[in-house]
Amino acid sequence: MKYDFDALPPRRGTDSIKWNVRENELPMWIADMDFAVAPPIQKAILERASHPVYGYSDIQEEWYQAYIDFFRDRHSFEIQKDWLIFSTGVVPTISSSVRKLTSPGDEVVLLTPVYNIFYNSIRNNLRFAKEVPLRYFANSYSIDFPLLEEALSSEKAKLLILCNPQNPIGKIWSEEELSEIGRLCKKHHVIVLSDEIHGEVTKPGVSYVPFLSVNETNKEIGFAAISVTKAFNIAGIHTSAIIIPNKELRAEVVRQLNTDECAEPNVFAIPASVAALHDSHDWLDEMREYVERNKEYVYGFLEKNIPSFVAIKQEATYLMWIDISKLTIDDKAFSSFAREKTGLFLTPGSTYGKGGEGFLRMNVATSLSNVKDACLRLLKAISYFRK
Ligand SMILES: Cc1ncc(COP(=O)(O)O)c(C=O)c1O
Repeated sequence: MKYDFDALPPRRGTDSIKWNVRENELPMWIADMDFAVAPPIQKAILERASHPVYGYSDIQEEWYQAYIDFFRDRHSFEIQKDWLIFSTGVVPTISSSVRKLTSPGDEVVLLTPVYNIFYNSIRNNLRFAKEVPLRYFANSYSIDFPLLEEALSSEKAKLLILCNPQNPIGKIWSEEELSEIGRLCKKHHVIVLSDEIHGEVTKPGVSYVPFLSVNETNKEIGFAAISVTKAFNIAGIHTSAIIIPNKELRAEVVRQLNTDECAEPNVFAIPASVAALHDSHDWLDEMREYVERNKEYVYGFLEKNIPSFVAIKQEATYLMWIDISKLTIDDKAFSSFAREKTGLFLTPGSTYGKGGEGFLRMNVATSLSNVKDACLRLLKAISYFRK
């Protein structure tokens, strides 16, 4: 390996949300990585920082080209320049789109369990989250299409927020599933916003399927929020993009992004994104291998030492999803207990809506030694919990 992912830069005392914890605590919750970024990203940021004026920034041609090249090379998906819009983040895009494309009292459909902040974007804007729980059978997930169609057919359903790949279950939706989602949404006049922020964090050799790449229907009724922030660990830079092939839809979304003041980059957003997309492919691929090995370690450890806990087999994200329902369905009580007794800080599954009860989410984008430490703490927590 060219990069040393075992050697973590210390993050305590760096204003990190994740590491703002007690001395003995091991934080494996919020979705950022403990790895140093790819050298080209740090170089681009330092170069920009060395110029002593930090005024308003514009979006340069190379930013568009970097996304176009990246999606062509890695996903064989041709994005046209005018489909691409800058936004300061995926959550700002989601909240802004909810405000523009739906009205108070409308329903926004979610396949659950799903990223909890979707609920905030919906409820803070006085809309309703219409939950469609995924089917969970034999430790794997699938979409309950009849239930989804029932939700979409409501007069009040205006928007579906899809998570592709899905946080927290780590599932990549297939071309067939994405095509069926598009067909049903078109039939019921529901717009699809596909959050693809985890799209690049996939198992080595596996690629996610961009919702818009599937067919013309999906391009007509959908748009995608994408970002380099998860895959390249630059969430604190606040940068993302939106792909919107449909011209009318694009005009609406852009108007609201401007109204909400999330359409302008900070000085580091463009150079950091371009360096990630153009010059950091080798880092990305090694990081994916490292994360996969961490996952393999956890799968092996649980099978051997805690067979009643099942880590769901995943193809994406660095967020493991562990079924603890044989021990307890009260994931909140167990995760608080584990944190208090062992310092292991995980996210309770019920944070992610219907179907998350009896699960834990564990962020394994850290060193293998931290992952090993986490497994031992988990084992200890269970033995105390059983007493
Ligand atoms: C599915 C999903 N969407 C969006 C975000 C956050 O996006 P941003 O930081 O660009 O607002 C996260 C962060 O964990 C996420 O998991």
